[in-house]
Formats: sequence, C-alpha cells, structure tokens
Amino acid sequence: MKILFLNGPNLNLLGQREPSVYGSDTLATIEAAVRERAAQLKATVDFRQSNLEGELVTWIQSAKGHYDAIVLNAAAYTHTSIALRDAIAAVGIPTIEIHLSNIHAREEFRHKSLIAPVCRGQISGFGAQSYILGLMAAIGVK
Ligand code: DQA
Repeated sequence: MKILFLNGPNLNLLGQREPSVYGSDTLATIEAAVRERAAQLKATVDFRQSNLEGELVTWIQSAKGHYDAIVLNAAAYTHTSIALRDAIAAVGIPTIEIHLSNIHAREEFRHKSLIAPVCRGQISGFGAQSYILGLMAAIGVK
C-alpha cells in the first residue's frame, strides 16, 4: 500500500503558526509520527508540502499509477480551489481530506470545502492526530 500525503499552503509554518488553533507540532514531527505508524502497518508513505496550488495539482496528477490513496490537507485551497477538486476527480485515486482544526467550528468561509464532494471522506478537528486517522482511512479504502 503506497500513500501520498500532500500538504498545502502555510503548513510549513506549523509549530509557530497560530499554535492555539493548529497545535505546537511541526510538520516534520507530524511526518515522523505518520511514518512510524505507517511502518507498523506495512504501508509506504511519501510526504510533501507546497505553497503553490499548481504544484499540488501536478503532484495529484502524477500520483496516478504510483499511489493507492492520497491523504490531503489542502489548507486554504480547500475553500477556494476548483483546480484541486478537478485534479482529484480526474485521477480517481481515493483521496481522504484532512484538517488539523475543525473547519466547521471556525469562520464561515472555512465551512465550505470544494474538495469534499470528490473525496472519500473528511477528517477534521483532531490536531496532529488527524494525520494518523487519515492514514488509517487511506489503508482501509478500496
Ligand atoms: C487547515 C484549515 C484551513 O481552513 C486553513 O486554511 C489551513 C489549515 C487545517 O488543517 O486545520 O491552513 O486545513
């Protein structure tokens, strides 16, 4: 099982960025925890972050034939990106939407996810644990 973790804009700042909302773990710490759990479950993980919408689109496109599932924290692009939504729909790889914070308990503009309809499901609000839950969901998808 090969799983691609993709992280969108500003997630490179985790640890220093609004810790009361996103927690104090860095993305590197989260990646290490995901890798440790994935190894226990005999899954292979690639883990990437970009601030660029087009780069995320390209990574989703090129995942076809190489990954069994995608776990995606699209960050702010969740709420704006038709391009990401179209890329997920185009490749047809089971994709799990994840968020550290509970987007439905925050500002109204975060309540709408443009990618949710083309994802298998959404995990939101469990902090760094959302990534582990995303891994478990990805392992379970067919
Ligand atoms: C986020 C939630 C988004 O609304 C926000 O723009 C982010 C992070 C989360 O993980 O909670 O950058 O995706």
